[in-house]
Amino acid sequence: MSISPKMEAAINKQINAEFYSAYLYLAMSCQADALRLKGVANWFNVQYQEEVAHATGFLNYLQDRGGRVVLEAIEAPQTEWPNAVAMFQHTCEHEAHVTSLINDLAALALEEKDFAASQFLNWYVNEQVEEESTADQILGDMTLAQNDGGAMLTLDRELAARTFVAPVIG
Ligand code: FEO
Repeated sequence: MSISPKMEAAINKQINAEFYSAYLYLAMSCQADALRLKGVANWFNVQYQEEVAHATGFLNYLQDRGGRVVLEAIEAPQTEWPNAVAMFQHTCEHEAHVTSLINDLAALALEEKDFAASQFLNWYVNEQVEEESTADQILGDMTLAQNDGGAMLTLDRELAARTFVAPVIG
């Protein structure tokens, strides 16, 4: 069964939202680099790559279902944050927003009786739990380290160890 026009439009919208997330985290990576926080910059660069993978996952799925991919303009992200705490605060807020977008998609899939899409979306539902929890944990650590140069340096080195592993989506 090919995908409904409603579901097709919603997935296209989510492709754009995932690319916006990628753009936002790439901007944060650049800002962290400017603040000489190389580990934070690395962490956000990996996050950027993950978001591209999320977008591509939706794109491939839409094609598999016989849908038409329509790429829209990506909104320009914020480009400056005063410090790493502000970046992780923004990350937490942004991921909570993405969770609500994924939940809306999952609700639409059920409304449309599209059980295949519903199953596919479960991967993203679970991924959002991970995304929110990781961002929240780093924000907590960052807040503790904020006024302690040594602690910040240690945390920055920890974040430097993150590497991109292409997720298996679906
Ligand atoms: Fe694509 Fe950060 O969720």
